Amino acid sequence: MQIKKSKVWLAALGACALSLAASAAEPLKIGLVLPMSGPFASYGKQIEHGARLYLEQSGGTFSGRKVELIIKDDTGVAPEISKRAAQELVVKDKVHVLGGFGLTPSAFAAAPIASESHTPMIVMNAATSSITTKSDYILRVSHTLPQVTAPVASWAAKNKIKKVYTLVADYGPGHDAEAQFKKTFTAAGGEIVGEVRTPVKSPDFAPFLQKIKDAKPEAVFLFVPPGEQTIAFIKGFVERDLAKAGIRIIATGDLTSEDVLDGVGDNALGIVNSFHYSEAHNSPENKTFVQAYYKAYPKDRPNFMAVSGYDGMQLIAKTLEKTGGDASGDKFMAAAKGLGWTSPRGPISIDPVTRDIVQTIYIRKVEKVADKLQNVEFEQTANFRDPGKP
Ligand code: PHB
Repeated sequence: MQIKKSKVWLAALGACALSLAASAAEPLKIGLVLPMSGPFASYGKQIEHGARLYLEQSGGTFSGRKVELIIKDDTGVAPEISKRAAQELVVKDKVHVLGGFGLTPSAFAAAPIASESHTPMIVMNAATSSITTKSDYILRVSHTLPQVTAPVASWAAKNKIKKVYTLVADYGPGHDAEAQFKKTFTAAGGEIVGEVRTPVKSPDFAPFLQKIKDAKPEAVFLFVPPGEQTIAFIKGFVERDLAKAGIRIIATGDLTSEDVLDGVGDNALGIVNSFHYSEAHNSPENKTFVQAYYKAYPKDRPNFMAVSGYDGMQLIAKTLEKTGGDASGDKFMAAAKGLGWTSPRGPISIDPVTRDIVQTIYIRKVEKVADKLQNVEFEQTANFRDPGKP
């Protein structure tokens, strides 16, 4: 009887091991929710490019599992579409990991889906500080607006800029940027002489630019989502003679993203900004990344979103290395917390408590390097956490 029982156990164990092996070999499905059309389509393109590049460099497999990447277009600022896309990816496509999220409303909308289904959700751009508090299954590999704003506010105060006018897009990341700039700049003795919030979609900057000119600040601090808006703002700033009136632009590096710099042209020269990634970042990891990116996508310049797509996939790969290929929600989250590596942007890690990214923030100035506009880094703060978190 005893012998019989142990035989049954052994058979059961064998079957279990076989099914574990089968599930480890089962393809790993990753679903990205991204703006692939509309005014923010370049976000989707950059993130997809970065993600595919990492996947290709990994031979298409993570920890022995073939990776299937499924992309759903949420068209930009359309939370209902983002939510439906995340739901379909989880329920119909049965993805193991969600990712992408170009803009804040999209990440907010998908957070409950991650919580309900226990699916890890990797934010690859959306940068409002509070996003990671909306679900225990969220991890972020991009940046937060307070994280990239505080350093340029300190830099301005240290560099004899005393009066600043703030202009931000009227939604989460803009509100975060405005609050952090005010906090850091005024604590260092600076004065805010005016502030304005502009519509997220297709703002007309002309009336705001006139108001800023009349207030005679030494500088305007700016956050608007990069794309047509950044090009329009800088064009209007020059055409309305704000630069001639001696007003400077300071900003987070969203403004001078490599994706839009060529569209802005020489008017961007001299803009000081703070950020986590520059195409000109001088490191072996970045040189390899940039070279591979141009080889794969010769018509596009890599920006911070491409690096975030790349690192988002890298986070998934490194997490699966730790779990032995197991992507089940709770095991995945436990293994991902605290992971760190050298990204093309510099050293990064995932804060084990907030699940947000810890990274170096650089102060940069737009300069011509070999006839190309680049964000040239000249100061840095290492291991910088999101100051927007308690
Ligand atoms: C956001 O919507 O959270 C967002 C969009 C563009 C950025 C940063 C943040 O560059």
